[in-house]
Amino acid sequence: MPIGNRCFQARSTLRGLRLSMTGLALTASAWLLLTALTVERTAAMDMPGPADLEQALSAPPQTIEVVEPHLSTADSDTVVAYRGWPAVKVLDHLLGSDWNKPGVDVEFRALDGYVSRIPAERFSEYPAYLVFESPGRSGFTVNNPRQNEKDVPLGPYYLVWDNVRHPGLLADGATNWPYQVSEVLVSDTGWRALLPGDMAGRYDEDAGLARKYCLTCHRINGYGGDKFPIDLAHRVKDMTATEFERWVLTPNAVKPGATMPPLAHRIPEPKREVMAKRLYAYLRAFPAQKQ
Ligand code: HEC
Repeated sequence: MPIGNRCFQARSTLRGLRLSMTGLALTASAWLLLTALTVERTAAMDMPGPADLEQALSAPPQTIEVVEPHLSTADSDTVVAYRGWPAVKVLDHLLGSDWNKPGVDVEFRALDGYVSRIPAERFSEYPAYLVFESPGRSGFTVNNPRQNEKDVPLGPYYLVWDNVRHPGLLADGATNWPYQVSEVLVSDTGWRALLPGDMAGRYDEDAGLARKYCLTCHRINGYGGDKFPIDLAHRVKDMTATEFERWVLTPNAVKPGATMPPLAHRIPEPKREVMAKRLYAYLRAFPAQKQ
């Protein structure tokens, strides 16, 4: 097992400990929430190596061509071939055949702390593949110009979507394309943490935006990824709307070399601005949390 993976497991264990210690000191309702957060998840499954997977699935890897979202812009698409297996087959094998239920997320955990939670239903709507190599190219890496990163390793696995046959997926850019995937699990805990108190019903869509575009790298109320693990609701308390929008829409202009990607860069500008405003309103409305 690669070293990074081991570090990641140690980190999750630490976080679990921290959760249960704070739980002791919290009120009964908050404690119930935390319990719900910790128990309603299945165990994380390590992604097996390609040779083991090929044997378990009794199927050779297939080649799939996709518009590589990290290398493409609204004006020019770069098509790249990858080899791997349909994600549904891999998930059936690792998670058992009943993982695909409404309201459930599939969580893809990456070696770099990135956590991608994708609604299970999406895998019935669009074909996805877990790939492990790129035939005809020298390495299994990609440049990520919008995050100012070069030759980023994609392995052990990279989740790609068939956006050639489903061009509607192009608008999402690299959202839902986690790379360095080393573990998968099923979790149905998201919405409770993102819509506490009376936020449910009023901010559902905004929480959905945060979940899709921000919480792969950041957190809100304990939910999210560890790539840059700040709590966004906490962080925006001292940001003005203008500062926030500028940062989210053009991080590179605020901080040259920033490794945060601009929000949904393939979506038309006026719509992106509305999204940034809604995210700000939602984060500001978030009740203060015990840190
Ligand atoms: C792919 C990972 C990633 C995603 C997705 C992401 N960020 Fe970030 N974010 C970062 C990193 C890395 C930094 C640290 C700054 C940098 O780029 O060097 C950061 C920094 C920030 C900061 C702090 C800026 C500061 O000066 O302290 C805020 C606020 C923020 N992000 C908000 C968001 C919001 C809101 C979203 C969703 C629209 C989002 N981020 C999506 C990676 C990400």
